[in-house]
Amino acid sequence: MSERTLVLIKPDAVQRLLAGRLIARFEERGLKIVGLKLVQVDRDLAERHYAVHRDKPFFGGLVDFITSSPLVAVALEGPRAIAVVRAMVGATRPHEAAPGTIRGDFGLETAQNLVHASDGPETADVELALWFTLGELASYERDIDRWALAPAE
Ligand code: CMP
Repeated sequence: MSERTLVLIKPDAVQRLLAGRLIARFEERGLKIVGLKLVQVDRDLAERHYAVHRDKPFFGGLVDFITSSPLVAVALEGPRAIAVVRAMVGATRPHEAAPGTIRGDFGLETAQNLVHASDGPETADVELALWFTLGELASYERDIDRWALAPAE
């Protein structure tokens, strides 16, 4: 079952020169990049993206952080992409993230946990629409898919 999901390579990862390495992890897994852009996020977009956290004590700091420096928004497509990407990203709190995950390999602080990934199908739809226009999302075939990926279920 092919799905699309949103990943944000957050400002800490971009500042630490990890954007290319992190995107490469998703590519190497076989996920298809269908949207990609560097964004200097404004507070309106940040507050809409993190609307579910509006009442949390860390909300102000979260918005400050995500607007502090550019991030890279990535739309990924592949079989069970939402769960696959969440597993690759690891636990929200990096000290709990398993080695081999992005946060488990590169992170220590919850507030600077390198990446955001949609947590379910509805969230993925909402977040993709928030970060990308339809014209910014590509549909295309890759020749490698017949080697790297199982037939669509
Ligand atoms: P993310 O996956 O982007 O979704 C919500 C974000 O809130 C989360 O990653 C963390 O970066 C951040 N977050 C969650 N809990 C805390 C916390 N206790 N303090 C600061 N930031 C937090």
